[in-house]
Amino acid sequence: MKRSTTQDNVRPPGLFYKSVTSKKSAGYDSGKVSVLHCEGKDLRDLGQTHGTPLYLYSAQTLRERTRVLDTAFGNFPHTLCYAVKANSNIRLLRFLARMGCGFDVVSGGELERVLRADKRSAKRVVFSGVGKTREEIALALRSGILLFNVESPAELDVLLETASQLRIKTRMAVRVNPDVDANTHPYISTGLRQHKFGVPLEEAHSLYSRVAGHKYVNAAGVSVHIGSQITAVAPFGEAMARVAALVVQLKAAGFGIRYVDAGGGLGISYEGESTDFGTSVKYYARAVLKPLRNLDVHLLLEPGRVLIGPAGVLLTSVIYTKSNRGKDFVIVDAGMNDLLRPALYQAHHEIVPVVRDDSRKKTTVDVVGPVCEAGDFLARDRKLPQVESGDLLAVLDAGAYGTAQASNYNTRGRPAEVLVDGTRTKLIRHRESFEDLVRLEEF
Ligand code: LLP
Repeated sequence: MKRSTTQDNVRPPGLFYKSVTSKKSAGYDSGKVSVLHCEGKDLRDLGQTHGTPLYLYSAQTLRERTRVLDTAFGNFPHTLCYAVKANSNIRLLRFLARMGCGFDVVSGGELERVLRADKRSAKRVVFSGVGKTREEIALALRSGILLFNVESPAELDVLLETASQLRIKTRMAVRVNPDVDANTHPYISTGLRQHKFGVPLEEAHSLYSRVAGHKYVNAAGVSVHIGSQITAVAPFGEAMARVAALVVQLKAAGFGIRYVDAGGGLGISYEGESTDFGTSVKYYARAVLKPLRNLDVHLLLEPGRVLIGPAGVLLTSVIYTKSNRGKDFVIVDAGMNDLLRPALYQAHHEIVPVVRDDSRKKTTVDVVGPVCEAGDFLARDRKLPQVESGDLLAVLDAGAYGTAQASNYNTRGRPAEVLVDGTRTKLIRHRESFEDLVRLEEF
């Protein structure tokens, strides 16, 4: 197969259409066709080798986004603590660890994953979440993590007790709830008074006072996280201004506050990058850093989606097309169990054909999965070039909260996952078999 150099970016730098000379394949004429590539790989080949549905990640995109975000914070002392919940594949965690990332975990399981990926990363782990159990706290203490983000007085009791019992020294921050509206989907907004997250700003001081002079736990930071998929930078700036004011107060009261954890939440443009990524992170960094300039603190960030989201694609095959009283459906082999976001948040994911054929007419369809729920859709009323059984479609920006929220509903095995780096591919999770699904059941 001869390949020309024409490239049309879809999600740069890893995902693009490339014009290739192809022999006649199902439904397409021979000659030049424009085929979606992940770096050096033709998505048709990946689908053929690994089957569908299939999650693909571009190493180059992940690398580039991590580098750009890191660079935006310049020489302000900082650590990117990747939010493991966005995508917890161990190989991806190792990849990020090698780039110098720390991690934000919200469960003992996520911490175990980080340890499995790279034991030495423990010292760059922050532990968030409203419901850390005593066992999880003990595991984190034994692992020597960087920081506990404490979210309630009751959790603080358990942390102080457990650290004393185990005689392990550690650091804590109070995760404050700044009462800032992040203007995002209600399910993923966390920084308002009515949310379960964090400690009200006005109550934070009393928690720090309880830590003062503790033999094992040191009050070392202030944390905040206001939500996810936030596309304006002003709420970040507002939250940081409130955090900075608290840091000043705490320092004046004699606390050695060394860390500010700004959380994650920077959004991506699911409809295609409207501004370039470098510019949007520059504004984000500016908003976050402005209130911190004179504070002499080390900044921790917990980005998830913004790093891994656009690096991932869900590759799926059309099983059937059908029409019910004038409404057209494209039934694909990926369902809500593979990618829950559209069903749960009415989230938009771009869907593009792997082989682009401009002669095909566009029609308005619902792209739905095989799961027996009316909510099982990937897209509704979407204009797509006409497709037929066997065609491949790519669901974009599926790297974050895709596999992480996948389930076995309808006894469907989770998809395989492949990391593409240039022309190399690595199977980083096997497709689940029926045996995997019933392994823990008694027959
Ligand atoms: N830090 C904390 C404490 C968090 O709760 C979260 C996300 C993050 C960091 C990472 O946020 P990111 O940078 O990825 O926005 N399943 C939803 C998103 C849930 C986010 C939960 N917390 C979705 O698919 O949109």
